Amino acid sequence: MRIFVTGGAGYVGSHCVRELCGAGHDVMVFDNLTSGGHREAVDDRATLVVGDLANAELVQGTLSEDHFDAVMHFAAMLNVNESVSEPLRYYHNNVSNTVSLLQSMKACGVEKIVFSSTCATYGEPPVAPLTEDLPQEPITPYGRSKLAVEWVLRDSAAAWGLGATALRYFNASGAAADGSLGEDRDPEYHLIPLILQVPLGQRDHIKIFGTDYPTPDGTCVRDYIHVEDLAVVHRLAIESQAPGEFRFYNVGTGHGASVREVIDAARKVTGHDIPAIEAPRREGDPAELYADPSKIMRELAWQPAYPNIMPIVETAWNWHKAHPQGYASVGR
Ligand code: UFG
Repeated sequence: MRIFVTGGAGYVGSHCVRELCGAGHDVMVFDNLTSGGHREAVDDRATLVVGDLANAELVQGTLSEDHFDAVMHFAAMLNVNESVSEPLRYYHNNVSNTVSLLQSMKACGVEKIVFSSTCATYGEPPVAPLTEDLPQEPITPYGRSKLAVEWVLRDSAAAWGLGATALRYFNASGAAADGSLGEDRDPEYHLIPLILQVPLGQRDHIKIFGTDYPTPDGTCVRDYIHVEDLAVVHRLAIESQAPGEFRFYNVGTGHGASVREVIDAARKVTGHDIPAIEAPRREGDPAELYADPSKIMRELAWQPAYPNIMPIVETAWNWHKAHPQGYASVGR
């Protein structure tokens, strides 16, 4: 298939582009190389067009130059806290730009899309594990922007035959097994890369946000899903996408790890004692979020290759150790 990948220079996008190229697909990456996108992360077998989705003319011009079979849409803003203070930027980038992308797709006859959604569309669900039939009641503009796009996709599938899959990721983490691709964001705000900054000598300690949650060790539980597992899921989704069908899946391992468990795994993997300081809760953090992935396992015949936290942290450490300054370390 010929596939147009927005955000293909970013963290999840770049791993997915490598997976698609490896499976023989013909990939064009469209990325503005800001907010986490890096030229060095784009697979050599793919073509890179540097541009912004807000430039509808460029998007439509690029899509019309050649026939594309499908789009994978990663490009988005994803800092939950920032979305609370800057909702218009989030709705503009995540919703308006997606509507405009879909208009270009429709004009150019591109009728399949896989979309990066999030478990944040469920808000603070009262139960775990999370199944897809739980009500979607997001509590932040970020989560609401992703849910709004799911509605647009659902309506487009019904109205003009778009084939769309929304993949509701849990916590994307880890790095390519060969250590050549990984997470590089500035500023960084995700747990695993922040923990690994301690053994790298880039911070003194990690803060644990909240130790009084109703979980076994009092810290938040999350479902850490390896980025290469996510990449495989995207490939399976696009290869099986039928026209006119809207599908949605939770994508996680089905197991949770607490903040303390992740820190312990990092201590074992790095051999560093990683001092941890107990801090107040971070606003808006649900106690426990982990997926029931049985729907995607059944329908796409998928199994995670990394079901446990230790090897996930190991791959992240391989990447960060070899690239302490992220992609700026490439070639040094
Ligand atoms: N945490 C700490 N200390 C830190 C950073 C994080 O204790 O320094 C805790 C958080 O409180 C949370 C857990 O570690 O309990 C994971 O935090 P992350 O910020 O790494 O991830 P989140 O679960 O908050 O959010 C992630 C993505 C969002 C996405 C969400 C659900 O960042 O974009 O998963 O998909 F919406």
